[in-house]
Amino acid sequence: MSAPSRRAVIGGAGLAGLSGLALAGCGRSGEGDAKAANGDPPGVAVTARAREFHGARQHGIADAPQAHAVWVAFSLPKAVRRDDVRRLLTVWSDDIARLTAGSGTLTDQEPELAEMVHRLTVTVAVGPGFFERIGASAKAPSWLKPLPRFDQIDGRLDDRWAGTDLCLQIAAESAATVSHTQRQLITAAGRLAKVEWVQRGFREPVAQPHWGSMRNLFGQKDGTVNPVVDGEDDAVIWAGDDAGWFAGGSAMVIRRIVMDMDSWDRADRYSRENAMGRRLDNGAPLTGGDEMTPPDLLAKDDLGFPVIDNGAHMRRAMPRAPHERFLRRPYSYDDSTDPDGTGLVFVAFCADPVRQFVPVQRRLAQADLLNLWTYPIGSAVYAVLPGAADGEYLGQSLFA
Ligand code: HEM
Repeated sequence: MSAPSRRAVIGGAGLAGLSGLALAGCGRSGEGDAKAANGDPPGVAVTARAREFHGARQHGIADAPQAHAVWVAFSLPKAVRRDDVRRLLTVWSDDIARLTAGSGTLTDQEPELAEMVHRLTVTVAVGPGFFERIGASAKAPSWLKPLPRFDQIDGRLDDRWAGTDLCLQIAAESAATVSHTQRQLITAAGRLAKVEWVQRGFREPVAQPHWGSMRNLFGQKDGTVNPVVDGEDDAVIWAGDDAGWFAGGSAMVIRRIVMDMDSWDRADRYSRENAMGRRLDNGAPLTGGDEMTPPDLLAKDDLGFPVIDNGAHMRRAMPRAPHERFLRRPYSYDDSTDPDGTGLVFVAFCADPVRQFVPVQRRLAQADLLNLWTYPIGSAVYAVLPGAADGEYLGQSLFA
């Protein structure tokens, strides 16, 4: 089959045919692949696992975090209308279905790069401007707005990393796979969406005893306490049936947080462990055990002081009400030797960030020993669209 020209794809010619092709082309990974990707055991082969695109939820949230990720934020140019947005989602859905199944897109000039899937996932999320543009503001989740300002820590926030109309999270075990996918999806958008910013992150490959933990650039085990992704904590991460068209969607919060390596390097080991409430070598709470042992928050030392400091990040971040939970899926960044060049792309997913995330962030802003070495420079909130049902494209119900 000869590939149609890029203009034909973007221009909408033959789109009906395209979505039909998407259906035919993306089911070949077989059932159960996505499920098998959750909680990957150590040493799992990561070269060629393809995903079934269609389903109630998008991939890239419940999957064990891949080693490389990029977040690409787009704005919708003024001239772009509702029908253009629909067309963009149709083309992206088709492209993502193909790429995550291990084949090039219809306009792919380097389809060989798509063959090694490397656990590729693409997650499509939208901002308030997306709903305005398609005349569906009333359907936007009520929490879809910038986070409130946290005065104690937000002084250096830069609009450069603020929320936009659309955002793609692309993740895979190979940086080349991520790069190829990014290029395909930006090219496919053409003039329908303009890139506003790109954030790139990395973490250790999945072969860890506990799938969520990586070592961040402070050397800490990061990701120990997280909701369970295979069912038990669904209500923490995903919008439920009461969310109507948004059931199966989620919120994605992206905070770009600088980690000041120079001042961290000057802190002694005691101060570093005290700031977290956990040991650096094995991630165990300072009250003993191993990484997964619950902390003893009441334990006192010989002088009567709490073993886990009242300002320790772990103590401040713990839920103080059952709803104060969210899935953390952070990545390190190291983009330059500038003072802001190193840190964490802190990414959290939950059903309602105002209710679940904001109280925790507020507590950390008020007092968290880690704030001595970290400060946010970016903050964005997006709604992750629910998955596309068989034969549909992402967000289709909004265009009915
Ligand atoms: C550069 C910034 C940050 C670093 C380096 C960092 C690092 C860590 C580390 C090492 C842990 C302990 C191990 C674990 O359970 O994962 C932890 C726990 C946690 N962090 Fe952070 N974190 C950062 C920012 C944040 C932010 C912005 C939030 C949310 C607003 C947050 C929320 C949490 C939560 C909820 C826990 C688990 C607490 C528990 O229940 O034990 N962190 N973080």
